[in-house]
Amino acid sequence: MAGGVVVNAAGGKTYPGRMTAFVFFTCLVASSGGLIFGYDIGISGGVTSMDSFLQQFFPSVYAQAEASKDTNQYCKFNSQLLTLFTSSLYLAALATSFVAASVTRVFGRKWSMFCGGLTFLAGSALNGAATDVLMLILGRILLGIGVGFANQSVPLYLSEMAPAKLRGMLNIGFQLMTTIGILAANLINYATVGIEGGWGWRIGLGLAGVPALVITVGALALPDTPNSLIARGYHEDAKAVLVKIRGTDDVHDEYDDMVAASEEASAIEHPWRNILERKYRPQLTVAVLIPFFQQLTGINVIMFYAPVLFLTIGFGDDASLMSAVITGLVNMFATVVSIVSVDRLGRRALFLQGGTQMFIAQIVVGTLIALQFGTAGVGEMSRSNAMLLVLFICFYVAGFAWSWGPLGWLVPSEVFSLEIRSAGQSIAVCVNMTLTFIIGQAFLSMLCTLKFGLFYFFAGWMFVMTAFIAFFLPETKGVAIEEMNLVWSQHWFWGKYVNGDATQHAGGNRRTNGV
Ligand code: BGC
Repeated sequence: MAGGVVVNAAGGKTYPGRMTAFVFFTCLVASSGGLIFGYDIGISGGVTSMDSFLQQFFPSVYAQAEASKDTNQYCKFNSQLLTLFTSSLYLAALATSFVAASVTRVFGRKWSMFCGGLTFLAGSALNGAATDVLMLILGRILLGIGVGFANQSVPLYLSEMAPAKLRGMLNIGFQLMTTIGILAANLINYATVGIEGGWGWRIGLGLAGVPALVITVGALALPDTPNSLIARGYHEDAKAVLVKIRGTDDVHDEYDDMVAASEEASAIEHPWRNILERKYRPQLTVAVLIPFFQQLTGINVIMFYAPVLFLTIGFGDDASLMSAVITGLVNMFATVVSIVSVDRLGRRALFLQGGTQMFIAQIVVGTLIALQFGTAGVGEMSRSNAMLLVLFICFYVAGFAWSWGPLGWLVPSEVFSLEIRSAGQSIAVCVNMTLTFIIGQAFLSMLCTLKFGLFYFFAGWMFVMTAFIAFFLPETKGVAIEEMNLVWSQHWFWGKYVNGDATQHAGGNRRTNGV
């Protein structure tokens, strides 16, 4: 089909596109932006459960945990200051995502990724050398700025570089790197917890510089996306990149559509105001609700606090980190499942299956904890029950890793038309980080008040979000990113908001050629 325009299920075109070594390489490098995000998620849970770290920076939390060793299991780590350490990063990231929207649009996706790597590098140096809480929190704010830039630009970069038929797979490289970052952090936590002299946490926090270096240097080596080059007036460069990533000279249709999309985009003066227009309502809803729901799966309760959670249910120091390693491995391998199936089975099938699996797992986990600790939070978990609990936590993590994890980043990055894509992605990042912050901040006190009911709380949200997908999310697999409008206009509910009119967006002027 070299060069031929193929009509897809939605009635739009897909362009020729196979996996070339060049697109693979560029997407691999860009995906490493996920490493910094993941490394951070994994490392904070580990260090905040290390005695030496708590003693030095959060002595009152340490004293409280020691004093309540044999009392209420649900409340022993409850400290706002400790959670502020974990979640300050997300506040910085959400504020940064708006600045990143302009950098990404005006200077290109590449420079946004570069800024992300550099600030993250500075943050890791500050954290590794920290002597007081202020240095720790300042370091984390810098890390947050890095994550804000990277999460805004990397998913967009991947979705724009990838051929439509492989977009899911290549975009999920970002989530795969996130899970590798989490796993690496978990392993480092495990290796450093026992270091004599109690400075193991410095290694963990300082080593964040390694993934930061990878994305900083990587971003320098990458070309920008054709869409971004065209939008900034580098038409010849854009064509050259397109020829290279598609592995064929026959890129005229796709190139022309990109130029048309860009012309239309440049007519839009206020992407932030435009995004509020009625015709973008479905995309806006998705950009807000998908990351909102992703966080309400409760995944970060497991990711941030797995070590704390495992301590709570009676594992010893090492065992708790071991369990975090186990969930880290499951998280990574299950993400591969979605890489190989997302462009075949589609986004909806993964969302619906994964959502159901997570719902069941949460009910079981909540019930096991209820049976053991009741509402008083006292008791010890038997070894067999603890094993069962770890098993269902893994079942839950696997469900997340092939559904809401990767799709929570993929879907918002692919549904917008060019003129509002960067703004739309910022909204997705902002909602994601806000919710991550709120849940990170509230978790320990929620565990203390809701007790095992916390897991039922998240199960309730799982039900709501799975129903939302069933009724309101159209399938986007294989649809060219310039053609996304058709998907919305043909949807039973969103159709009334979106004008199916072929001129509404750029791809339209050429669509009739293919139909
Ligand atoms: C989420 C993170 C989460 C991670 C776990 C990401 O998609 O955005 O909040 O910690 O997945 O793998």
